[in-house]
Amino acid sequence: MQADILFRNAVLIDGTGAPRQRADVAVTDDRIVAIGDLSAWRGGVAHDCTGLVLAPGFIDPHVHHDEIVLTDPDMTCMTSQGVTSIINGNCGFSIAPLTVAPPFPAPLDIILSDEVPRFASFGAYRAQLDAAPPAVNTACLIGHGTLRINTMSDLNRPADAGEIAAMRASLDAALSEGGIGLSTGPFYPPARAAPTAELVAMAEIAQAHGKLYVTHMRDEGDRVRESLQETFQIGREAGCGVHVSHHKCAGLANHGLSEITLAMIDEARKHQDVGLDTTPWIASSTMLNSGRHRQATRVMVADSVPHPELAGRDLADIAAEWGEDLDTALARLLPATGIFFVMDEGDVRRILSYPHTMVCSDGIARGKHPHPRVWGTFPRVLGHYVRDVGLFSLEEAVHRMTGLPAQRFGLTGRGHLAPGHYADLVLFDAASVAEGATFEAPLTPAHGIIGTWVNGRAVWRSGAATGARPGRTLDQRTGSIAGASV
Ligand code: ZN
Ligand code: CU
Repeated sequence: MQADILFRNAVLIDGTGAPRQRADVAVTDDRIVAIGDLSAWRGGVAHDCTGLVLAPGFIDPHVHHDEIVLTDPDMTCMTSQGVTSIINGNCGFSIAPLTVAPPFPAPLDIILSDEVPRFASFGAYRAQLDAAPPAVNTACLIGHGTLRINTMSDLNRPADAGEIAAMRASLDAALSEGGIGLSTGPFYPPARAAPTAELVAMAEIAQAHGKLYVTHMRDEGDRVRESLQETFQIGREAGCGVHVSHHKCAGLANHGLSEITLAMIDEARKHQDVGLDTTPWIASSTMLNSGRHRQATRVMVADSVPHPELAGRDLADIAAEWGEDLDTALARLLPATGIFFVMDEGDVRRILSYPHTMVCSDGIARGKHPHPRVWGTFPRVLGHYVRDVGLFSLEEAVHRMTGLPAQRFGLTGRGHLAPGHYADLVLFDAASVAEGATFEAPLTPAHGIIGTWVNGRAVWRSGAATGARPGRTLDQRTGSIAGASV
C-alpha cells in the first residue's frame, strides 16, 4: 500500500477525548487514508514520530485575522502553534460585507488597514481567499457592527425598522455566501446603542441558516451576569445557539465571579444551546480607548498608529514622561491597541477547566508588540496548564482545541483523526511544548511544535514556514465528504 506521507509510530491523540494510542497514519492527497499498524505501507515521505504526539490540527474559534490572511498569507503566528483552521469576523467586526470608505470607527480600524481592498459582499472576500489562499483554513463570521457601520449614519442610537430590515437582508446574503455565523459586539461603541431587540432581530437570521450567534458581550466586568442573561435571552427569543466569546470576569471587583458565571452557563445549558471560549492569560487585549484601562492593574501599549515606537511600553510610564494624566496620554496614542491586566488567575483556571470551554487566541496580529496570545495560546495550554499545572489531561486539551470547535461550528471532516477526514495535523513533543511568546517578546514562535500540515501539505517544519498555502475557505455546506462521519 502506498501513501504520500506516512507518520510512523506516533502517539495518536485523535481529538475525540479518547485515550492516546500508538499508531501509524497514512495521508494521500488532502486526506487521511489509514490509521493503525501500517508497517506494510510505503510513503513518498515517512516521518518517524517515536515519542511525539500526532493530533488533529488545532482550530482557533476566535481571531481577528480577516485581513492578514490576505496580506500575510503564511500565517506563521498560527501554523507555528499547530493551528490549521481559524474563525475570523469576531466581536461584531468582519472585513465583509463592507460598503463604506475609511477612516473606519474603532475597533474596525484596528482590524482593517486603509490600504487593503474592501469587499462589498462576503462572496467577493471569499473569492479573493479562494484565488490566493493562506496557509490555514479560514471561516468567517459576519459582524453586526460592520453591518451597522454600512447601514446607519448615526451609530449612537438603536437601528430603526428600515435599517434593521437592511441589515437582516445583508446578513442573510452573507450567510448564504458562506459566512459561518453572526458575531456581535455590543461592548464596542459602534454597537453599544443596539438594544437587545435589535440583536434578536439579527440572531433570527442566523437561526434561519442554522448558524450560531457569537458574542463579545455588552459587559465582561461589573455587569457580566446581566450580559450573560441578555445573551441567553437572545438565544431563546431567536431560537438559535449562542456562543460567549473569550469569557472573562474583568476588574478587581469581579475577580472570583466565574464561579457564578459558569454556574449560570451550566443552568442555561439545560434549556438551550450555549457554548464559550477563552484565552489562557490574565491580560486581555483590545482597542486602547475601550475604557478597560480603568479596570486594569497594568496597561501596555500593543500598537499605536501615531506612536509605533512606544509599542511594548506601559501606559503609566508614557503618561508620566509626557506629564499627562492617563486619559490624555491615551488619546494621543489613538488609534491604538492595548494589553490590559484585568483578570484573576483563579478565574482563568476555572473557566479553562470548565468542560465546555474551547481555547482561543483572540489574536490581533497588528504591529510589533501584540499580546503574546497571538503566537503562544495553544502551546501555553498544552505546556503550562496541562503538563505543568495539571488542570486537565492532554487528551481533554486536544479535544477542546479540535473536535469540540469543529463540531460546534460545523467544520465537517475536521477536528478528529479518522480515515476520510482532511489531513489537518500537528506533530508535537508533549514534554517540551510551551509558548515562546512573552509580554516582553511577543513575536516568538512556540517550542515543541515539530510540524503542522494543512490539507495534507506541510506548512510549518523545523521551526520555519514552508511557504505552502493550502488553506481552504470553510463553511458548513462545502465540507461534506463521502463515507466519513463528522
Ligand atoms: Zn472581543
Ligand atoms: Cu475578539
